[in-house]
Order: sequence, then C-alpha cells, then structure tokens
Amino acid sequence: MATIEVARYAGACYGVERALDMAYTAAKDASGPVNTLGPLIHNPLVVQDLEREGVSVVDDVEQADSGTVIVRTHGVVPSVVDRARERGLAVVDATCPYVKKVHHAARRLVSEGFQLVIVGEAGHPEVEGILGAAGGSALVVQEASELESVELSRRVGVVVQTTQTASALSRVVAAIAPRVSELHVVNTICEATSERQQAARELASSCDCMIVIGGKNSANTCRLAQICTEACRNTHHIEDSDEMLSSWLEGVEHIGVTAGASTPSSHIKRACERLQMLLDAR
Ligand code: F3S
Repeated sequence: MATIEVARYAGACYGVERALDMAYTAAKDASGPVNTLGPLIHNPLVVQDLEREGVSVVDDVEQADSGTVIVRTHGVVPSVVDRARERGLAVVDATCPYVKKVHHAARRLVSEGFQLVIVGEAGHPEVEGILGAAGGSALVVQEASELESVELSRRVGVVVQTTQTASALSRVVAAIAPRVSELHVVNTICEATSERQQAARELASSCDCMIVIGGKNSANTCRLAQICTEACRNTHHIEDSDEMLSSWLEGVEHIGVTAGASTPSSHIKRACERLQMLLDAR
C-alpha cells in the first residue's frame, strides 16, 4: 500500500497566513473597493480567489481612488503608506511582523550612529522597505566581495533580509569585522524558508515521487522543487491538484508532498485527497 507523507514544514508561513486572513477580513468588512499593492502573494490561484471576493491588485497607490489598500508581507517604504493616507485611503498593513523587526533594528542602528549594511537583494521590495525605514542611507550587499571597494565607517551595523541564508550573513560579517572598531549585527533571518527547504530535502531523499505545490512564479516554491529534484528525479511542481497525472505514480510506494511559503494549507489538503484518489484507482 503506497503512503503519502507531507513534509514536517510545508506551506504558508505565519506571515502569509496572517496577510491572507487580513485580506479576506477586509474583503468582508471594508466599505468601498479593496486593493492590494501588488499581488498579495506569488500564488495565482489565491490571487484569483481574492479577486472573486472583491480584492483587486493595483501596482501603485495612485491607481486606487478610494477604499482600502493592503500592504503585502514584504512591507513598503513609509512614504507609500503616508501617500495612501493623504489620498484618503484606509491602510491595512499586512507587513509580516518579522519584516517589521528588521525595520525597527535598521532604524535603531541608524539612530545610534552606525553605518547600516543590509545583507539582501538590491531592488527586492522587502529590501526597499528596509532602506526606506532606515531613512534611505544604507549599503545593500549580497556577497562579501561587494564590500571590497567600499569605504566603511568605524561603527557598522548589520541587518539581513528575512529570506537570506545564515552563510551569506556570516560571509559579509566576516569581511566587515577586521575593518571596523565596532560591529553590531542583528540576525533578522526568518527560519520559515530554511525549515521548509531542510524538511523537503529530508523527505525527498526517502520518496520515489515528490509533489511540490505552489505558484510557478514563486521563487521559494521553485527552489523547493529544485531541491526535491536533486534528491528524487520523479518530482513535479504543480499549482493545482488537477495537474497531477496517474502516470507519475506508476510503481511508486512512498509519495512526498511539500509546498512553498505562499501555498495555503487548503491546497495541500486538496492535493493529498487527489493523490489518494489516483492511488485508489491504480
Ligand atoms: Fe514573514 Fe518569514 Fe513568512 S518573514 S512572510 S514568516 S517567510
């Protein structure tokens, strides 16, 4: 009898669950139109479902004329929220509390006179939000080598984009330490990403079929699919359970299921039910 096992850590993280709750509540309770500033999460099925509930996507505050705007988990620069309020819009701030923690740390380091270094991806919305919270003056680096030609002050403070790895942070910190007299590091990495990757790797290595659920446009889901493929060649990245084929299950005894941090638990449940149906029909 073939078995289905869901990874120890899989699917929507705390910040995404919270943002979804806030968006569905706004759809129910808010008066006037409800818009998210950019797609709420990288999951087309969820974005379509929100649309059916009356929550649309705008790219910019200027495109919303009335009602409510919802800020995504990544957060935004403070001026965006100010601008929304100036335009008379209600703001639902779904910035993940872990991202808020980075904002607070960045602001505090700058106010204490440290030169701020953000370990993260330049141009990413979360990093833009951290930069904004810090008052706009910070160095953004992803690799230690990027610091070689940069002048550092004697006192440097470091924060890190929530989805970066501990090794990326360590490399940057090791490069800064010998060049400064005071170094203050605030580790703001969120474990949700690495927990999901580690659990997927472990499960995939014991399975002969792996199903990875989540948006094809979701970077963290694509990374999970890549990790699983390395351990199990019979890995399939799906957005919806209908995409699963019975041919994937031929001769298979242990099926693993995982999902990206932007995949609601209801999608995991649906995929497991469909898998069981396909197994029963074998
Ligand atoms: Fe928040 Fe971590 Fe998710 S920062 S949005 S709980 S990946």
